Parts: sequence; structure tokens; C-alpha cells
Amino acid sequence: MAGIRETWNSRTAFVLAAIGSAIGLGNIWRFPYVTYENGGGAFLVAYFICLFLAGIPLLMLEFSIGHKYHQAAPGSFKKITPRLEWFGWFAAGVGFIIVTYYAIIMAWSMNYTYEAATLGWEQEEARYADIQYSVAETDLDDMEVLREVPDSLLGRTFVSPVTTLSSTICDDPVDSEGFGTILVAYGGHLYGFSDVNNANSFMGSPGDFFFNEFLGVTGTVWDIGEFKWPLFIGFTLAWIWIVASVWKGTKTVSKVVYFTVLIPWGLLLVFVIRGLTLEGAGSGIEYYLTPVWSKLMNAKIWLAAISQVFFSLSVGFAIMIAYGSFLPKKTNIAANAMIIGIADAMTAFFGGLAVFSALGHHASSLGVPVSQVVSSGPGLAFVAYPHIITTLPGARIFGVLFFLMLLTLAVDSAFSLLEAVTASVKDKWNTSHRKANLIVGGAAFLLGLPMLTGMGIHILDIADHFMNSFGLTLVVLGEVLIIGWGTGADRQRQYINDNSSFRIGLWWNICIRWIIPMGILWMIFSEIQERAVPYGSFIDRSQEFVFGWLLIILLPIIGDLLASAKGKQETS
Ligand code: PHE
Repeated sequence: MAGIRETWNSRTAFVLAAIGSAIGLGNIWRFPYVTYENGGGAFLVAYFICLFLAGIPLLMLEFSIGHKYHQAAPGSFKKITPRLEWFGWFAAGVGFIIVTYYAIIMAWSMNYTYEAATLGWEQEEARYADIQYSVAETDLDDMEVLREVPDSLLGRTFVSPVTTLSSTICDDPVDSEGFGTILVAYGGHLYGFSDVNNANSFMGSPGDFFFNEFLGVTGTVWDIGEFKWPLFIGFTLAWIWIVASVWKGTKTVSKVVYFTVLIPWGLLLVFVIRGLTLEGAGSGIEYYLTPVWSKLMNAKIWLAAISQVFFSLSVGFAIMIAYGSFLPKKTNIAANAMIIGIADAMTAFFGGLAVFSALGHHASSLGVPVSQVVSSGPGLAFVAYPHIITTLPGARIFGVLFFLMLLTLAVDSAFSLLEAVTASVKDKWNTSHRKANLIVGGAAFLLGLPMLTGMGIHILDIADHFMNSFGLTLVVLGEVLIIGWGTGADRQRQYINDNSSFRIGLWWNICIRWIIPMGILWMIFSEIQERAVPYGSFIDRSQEFVFGWLLIILLPIIGDLLASAKGKQETS
């Protein structure tokens, strides 16, 4: 083996790098919503139980695999038995697919930092007001529901941003004035043309700005739409940032993580304080945290908890194996895993405070219940939150800081994914770190380009759904079967104990051999029947799921090809 393997500069650098990978968009735009939806405070109990019985044991497992075999995922599994190298590549492949679209979300955030500085999404309303519509006669059947309108708005007059357009929400269809039947409010729904482009464009709001103007979203994944050049700029900058952060491997990462973890933490604190001091914040927090204990008896909340734990800790993507492989001989696997798991959970909890206090404020200023304004995924970060920020004093500053927070949260998740794949390539072909970096990063960059078009969010959604629902789950299942039942849970536990400041007990074996596999199988089965999508399903397009299944089938095949390719560095 050529030389000694690179290692982290310090223990803190390693812990921060792993925390940086774990904390990400999942903590801000997924966790708060999942908590709210699944019983608030009661969900936190389920979350912590899953964290300690599944998340942290898995972190220990992945770190110890990397530490023991001194290789990224493919090399590690190859050392277990050469027949398993493909599985390591499969794990790296899942990570690779994720980084292709993670960079897209970073690109959105890059551009939104600019939009925030200029309040770009607000100016849209004025522009839409100039649009003239010539409208043919139509009726409700030809229209689509634009918006569900809360019962509390029944009888109120809805004024569209197009000033002459107004309708009363009522139980009889009412045409909007002067515009034929362009807009109809009926039975708690707002109808508009079924031509999405037309229909959305008169609903001038940050949502329209994001989906129509900014992304130019098309109706289906088959319709490419426009290539968004401004996004290309943000995308390129994002990739330069990602690649630069891992330029010299752990040497660079060890320095970068101080910024990419401490800055978002600082900013999150700003938003928590700002949020909690807003009028109406209390009602939001109440929605977020009031425990509905009866929900603990509901299987759904446990499923939500375990999938949130896995996703949030970035386990099952080959990352933590690669990061573990850079640990020095003397380390503290168990304690590190604990610290990382708890830090990630705390970040998510505070993310929820920031988000729900702002939502509470927003709801109370609109005079509607919080349940009418909650959202998750892109809808939260790029629509609801910007809209709320706009109403605050210092809107531009808070807007810029918010997207800076998203960017710094996301970048270390993105580069951890890149590093996991880069390290795998480097281990096998003994290339220089820079070369591996440029090859992997360059390929991911190219694969990301189609997502800068109008169909981008559809592809993103499908890839995301499949990678998190089946990619992650299959990788974790493979790991616990290979170690828990193959090489032996007890041996691995012994190894962890030899490299930790405290001993973990037999409970770890039970988690690895029984609890996690059963949880995973359950996830997979319920997944097939449909679960909430991490980044928020945009529209229902079941037939396009062909792409998703194709990915799941192709990844192991590609993994096998890579495994049988001749490597430069034969380690035995
Ligand atoms: N853990 C990250 C989050 O919470 C998501 C992520 C998953 C990042 C997989 C990298 C790999 O947002």
C-alpha cells in the first residue's frame, strides 16, 4: 500500500465533518414538518428512541467498518470478502446520485441569496398585474383546483394580485369580475385554468415566483422546458465551492468544517431568537411541540421517526465509512457517534423552533390557524419562509442570512458525498486526490445539468424519492446483514469497544441484528405503498417512476462492473 492513509487533523475536525454531513436541509425543512405532522412532542420521544436504537448504533457500525478496514466503502467490503465489493460501490453510487441533486438545491439557494438581497420574489406581483388574459368560455370541469382554501376564509373576498380580479369564496361558483371565468371560487377551492402556466401566473405570490419564474417548472417530466441560465451560474459556483472544500481531502476538509458547521449554527441561533421574539410565535411553537401521546401507538410515527433518523444522520450513503477510514489508529468510536447523533438532533430541534415560531407569527398576522401555513421541503424554504421574511423589518438582511444558512448547511453534506465517492475511486485506482475529485465532481456536475431545466424538479424529486426510500434502506439492510449476521455483530462490537473510551453492551448486537433490519424491512414495504418524500413531491407522476426503478436496478449492475474493473492498488 502506498504510504500511510491520510487522517483528520484533529478529533474535533472529524466530529465537525461528520456533524456537517449530518446537519443539512433535513434538519431545517424536513424535521420540523415531520414532527408537527406526527404528534409534536410525542414524535420527539419516538425520534430519540430511534436515534439511540438505530441511528447511533449504525453510526458506530459505519465508523468502525471504515476504521477497521482502512478503506472507503468498496474497499472495505472487498476486504470482508471480494464478492462484496460491488455492494460498496452500490452504496457509493447512492451517494453519487444524491450529490447530483443536492448541488441543485444549493444552486437555488445561491440564486435566492441574490433574490433576497433584491427582494426579487416580491417584485413579481407588480409584473403579473400587467399581463392581459383573453379567456375562452369554460366551466369548472375544465379547470383545476389552484388552491385549497381554508374553511375560515369562506365568505371572504379573495383579491388576486392582479388588481381587478377578485372573487368571493362561497358555496356557489362565482366568476371573477371582468375576466370571464378565469378564476372561480367554489366550495372552499379556488379554480383556475387547467393550463398550469396560465393559471399560476395570475396568482402572483412567492410560490409562483419560485415555481414559474425562477424554475420555470413544466407540467411533466417529459417536457424539458427552458434551460435556466441564471441557475447555471449558481450551480457552477456551488460546485466550485464543493470541490474546493475537499481539494486536498481531509487536510482541506479539516479546516473548512469549522466554518461550515459553526456559521450555520450561529445563524440558526439568530433565527431562533428572531422567531421567538415575533408576535404570535407561541402559537407556532404550540403546534410544533404539543404532544399528542396517543400517536405513539400509531405505527406511522415510528416509521417517520426511523426514516428521519437515517436520512438526517447521513447513514447508508457510504459517507460515514469513508470518514471513519480517515480516523487515526487511536480514536473513540462510540463517544464520537454519540456526540454526532445528539448534535444533529439538537440542530433539528432548534430548526423547528426557528421555523415554527415564524409560521406562528405568519398565521397570526393572517388570522388563520398555523395548520394553514405549514409546509415543508422547497415550499417552506423557497416560498413560505421568504414570504414571511419579507414582512419583517430588515427583510433583505434576514433573507440573505437565511439562504447563507441553507448554503452552509448544505455544502458540507454535499462535499461529504463527493468525498465518499472520491475516496472510493482513489482507493481503487490509486489516483491523486485532485484527479479523483475532478473526475467524480465533473461527472456529477454534468449529470446535474438537465436539472437546471423546467423539468429539473421532477427529476430531482424522483431521484430523491428513490435514493432515500430504496437506496438508503437497501444499503443499511446490506450492512447490518453483512456485519450483524455475516462477519458477526459480536466481533464488530469487540472492535468498537477496543477503540472507544467506554464499552457498549450486548444491546448493540440486538440493534444491529434485529431492530434495524426489522425497521428497514418495514420501511421498504410501507415505502412501496408510498411515504412522504423528503424533498416534497411536487406533482403526482406515477408513470415516471420508471426512472426511479431503473436507477435502483442499474446501480448494483454498475457497482458490479466497477468491482470487476481492474484496480491499480491491490490490497489484500
Ligand atoms: N443528512 C442530510 C440532511 O439532514 C441529508 C443528507 C443525506 C446528506 C445523505 C448527505 C447524504 O439534510
